[in-house]
Amino acid sequence: MQCLRYNKASLFMENVALSELANEFGTPLYVYSFNQLMENFNRFDAAFGRYPHTICYALKANSNPTILRTLAKAGAGADVVSGGELFFALESGIPPEKIVFAGVGKRDVDIEAAIKIGIRGINVESEMEYDVISDLAERLNRVAPISLRINPDIDIHGHPYIATGRHGDKFGITNDAALALIEKIKRDDYCDLVGIHAHIGSQIKELAPFKKLAEYMAGVAKKAIDSGHRLEYVDLGGGFGLDYENVINVDIDAQGLDDLVLDPQEVISIFVDAIKDTGVHLIIEPGRALVANTGALITEVLYLKKTGDTNIVIVDAGMTELIRPSLYSAHHEIVPLEIRDADTMVADVVGPICESGDFFARNREILNIGRGDNLAILTTGAYGYTLSSNYNARPKSTELFIRGKRVKVIRERQSLEDLWTG
Ligand code: LLP
Repeated sequence: MQCLRYNKASLFMENVALSELANEFGTPLYVYSFNQLMENFNRFDAAFGRYPHTICYALKANSNPTILRTLAKAGAGADVVSGGELFFALESGIPPEKIVFAGVGKRDVDIEAAIKIGIRGINVESEMEYDVISDLAERLNRVAPISLRINPDIDIHGHPYIATGRHGDKFGITNDAALALIEKIKRDDYCDLVGIHAHIGSQIKELAPFKKLAEYMAGVAKKAIDSGHRLEYVDLGGGFGLDYENVINVDIDAQGLDDLVLDPQEVISIFVDAIKDTGVHLIIEPGRALVANTGALITEVLYLKKTGDTNIVIVDAGMTELIRPSLYSAHHEIVPLEIRDADTMVADVVGPICESGDFFARNREILNIGRGDNLAILTTGAYGYTLSSNYNARPKSTELFIRGKRVKVIRERQSLEDLWTG
């Protein structure tokens, strides 16, 4: 995380000492870096050169309104997966023609809203869904812009819960079904085939699956064009992986590190090379790669204890704030906001929730810490707050946006009253 660095022994995000924020706003607390966000977006945007493209940010990674407005202003579009995310995208100022709508289980009301609003494309994830969209468009007397979400049967060699492009996964339609629909849509007065789409999974760390995907999709795009459709775009989804382990050196005065595993320039060049013969617009849908390394979750050490041979550090954040370690055994670096002691200890870092699966790290070597110390759990700007919950009657955290030395509250902590009245 380039936005983080130790100045003397204090952890700073941009020009702000994080321990001051922990004292002022309390913990658990999410903090995000404005400049890191802009740098991430601009890096992907620049990688396309002059090739026509839209970066449709995957809202599910982090849908804080201020983050969405910032990305909207920078020129981002949106990948949405529900009527709620469609509403958020529009409220944040993203124009309808930059919004694509995915999801295996869209409700009729949400499809109707998408048709009426005139978004860029509705991704068809099953043959039955196509029939429903066509009927709804006819009832509204409108033409629905359709994009086929293809399942190309490509394995990303990652965690099974975040692989989405293999046959047997619930997402998308097979090549055969796509070819049949390409023919069927030609005879449909209420649907236009405007795009083809794929998203093969998240946290992809190898070039090979991206290359295979781009070539595969170029083939499908050519078939659609040859059969007479005026295809407008190919959407190759998101999935750009991050390094969650080499995030920052805990040496004093060390600068944060680059987090992307693959160079966006290299991946996007592969996409452009594969698609350019068709001449169509390119869409990508990064979520994690735009926001994960902008964020840290700040927590306070409540207790230390030993059970058997295991040292246990109990902190005030839990799976309610960040579920990734519990759900995917995901690794997040954990560092103190103030380094007091260069010696280390090996411990389990756990939350206060009444579940044994509520942990942030197991058997981890961390710098020595004690009760009252604050810790930062790193690379938590994506799939952190958006996956948080009120389990154990815990209010959702405050979120702060940091720009230089300025700090803005971009979401207030929920009150107990909020939880009680719903
Ligand atoms: N497009 C579609 C259609 C998606 O389903 C997703 C993510 C994305 C784009 C963005 O993928 P990204 O660039 O963020 O990898 N909760 C999991 C990740 C689930 C991803 C679901 N779909 C995690 O915390 O790792």
